[in-house]
Amino acid sequence: MSTLFELPSLKFDFNALEPAIDAKTMEIHHDKHHAAYVNNLNKAFESAAEYYDQPLEKILSEINKVPEAIRTAVRNNGGGHANHTFFWDVLTPGGKKAPSGTLLAELEKTFVSLDGFMEKFASAATTRFGSGWAWLVLDNEKKLQVYSTANQDSPLMDNHKPLLGLDVWEHAYYLNYQNRRPDYIKAFWSVVNWSAVEQEYSKSR
Ligand SMILES: [Fe+2]
Repeated sequence: MSTLFELPSLKFDFNALEPAIDAKTMEIHHDKHHAAYVNNLNKAFESAAEYYDQPLEKILSEINKVPEAIRTAVRNNGGGHANHTFFWDVLTPGGKKAPSGTLLAELEKTFVSLDGFMEKFASAATTRFGSGWAWLVLDNEKKLQVYSTANQDSPLMDNHKPLLGLDVWEHAYYLNYQNRRPDYIKAFWSVVNWSAVEQEYSKSR
């Protein structure tokens, strides 16, 4: 089996995000769920590995050019791999607890206030029916947008640059929060890696 793509290691221990996200959830989420996306993505590319010697971001941004026979597998598992790799990077047990500088100014300009942004993001995460993600992105016109995507669809598929993402699949919170997705979303704010979000923003704007 080809191993074009590899599961990245977490930069913190499984229990580092407690109590917001418990160790067991992190372990299963990373070692089982994310690992499965990577394995299935590599499997999908077995028949087309030579064509896909390119970054995952590029493959996803041109998802409709992927051969139809493997397009759904690449959409789901490539999206899953990209989304989770990104997600681990915007989580941290420590660090600054709010954005500042240019990103804060732009959030306030777009959403009136930081609270306005957080409400909009939480609402996107809460109202996403079934499985999916909530996002803060920089769109094609370099404007901030908040929305949600279904399943493992990634903003990269619309050529949008993700700045912050929240996994609202049940596998991300059910062990600890059961059906209380809003409590998980509230707790998420305490483990956001704002330095990473700001870095992504200054790289992309
Ligand atoms: Fe997930």
